[in-house]
Amino acid sequence: MNRKLEQYLQDHTTPEDPVLEELFRQTHIRFVNPNMATGHLQGKFLEFISLMIKPENILEIGTFTGYSAICLAKGLKPGGKLITIEINDELNSFSHSYFCRAGVESMITQITGNALDVIPQIDLMFDLVFIDGDKREYTEYFRLIIDKVKPGGFILADNVLWGGKVLDNETSDTQTKGVIEFNEMIIKERNLEIVILSVRDGLMLMRKKV
Ligand SMILES: C[S@@+](CC[C@H](N)C(=O)[O-])C[C@H]1O[C@@H](n2cnc3c(N)ncnc32)[C@H](O)[C@@H]1O
Repeated sequence: MNRKLEQYLQDHTTPEDPVLEELFRQTHIRFVNPNMATGHLQGKFLEFISLMIKPENILEIGTFTGYSAICLAKGLKPGGKLITIEINDELNSFSHSYFCRAGVESMITQITGNALDVIPQIDLMFDLVFIDGDKREYTEYFRLIIDKVKPGGFILADNVLWGGKVLDNETSDTQTKGVIEFNEMIIKERNLEIVILSVRDGLMLMRKKV
């Protein structure tokens, strides 16, 4: 999207929460690959999705600095909780400090570890799952979470267009291959309804029918 149009979208979206604005700024100052953070427009969209679903339980794979976790937590039912898993333990204190500043820390359980090991140990059913970890592992995350999603529940997967590289079937890039494999697997799932939105890097919304 061209910059002017992007600016127009920003100008016609509710201004960013000051805590998220600061989180985003500090993420860019202090961490490598800061573009992994969700950011204002998609963050607001995630917040709206969560507010519409009013989930009791949310699972997030890939916390990074906590931007999307804060957005999603805002839509939780009173007493609801969000579990977020992050493999990189160096990010924990940063994201936790922003969960506190955003006033959502009591709703969020941070787990440090590999989601592939952690998910099988979670004994909970989810209304909403946000897949945003390693692109090479998307299919494995899906296989691990699908039986933990309530009937009628939702799954979101980020970066499913992967900068447009999903069109390159000949690619040798393992992350692109991971995303392509995931998209091809999902479209064959009979128990899902699916829509891909071209928001940011492509956001897939899935609904588990029964
Ligand atoms: C795209 S970032 C997440 C961005 C975050 N959801 C947001 O929107 O602000 C992906 C994160 O997933 C983490 N990650 C990668 N593989 C993982 C795994 N197997 N288990 C848990 N976290 C993982 C990475 O360390 C990275 O912080």
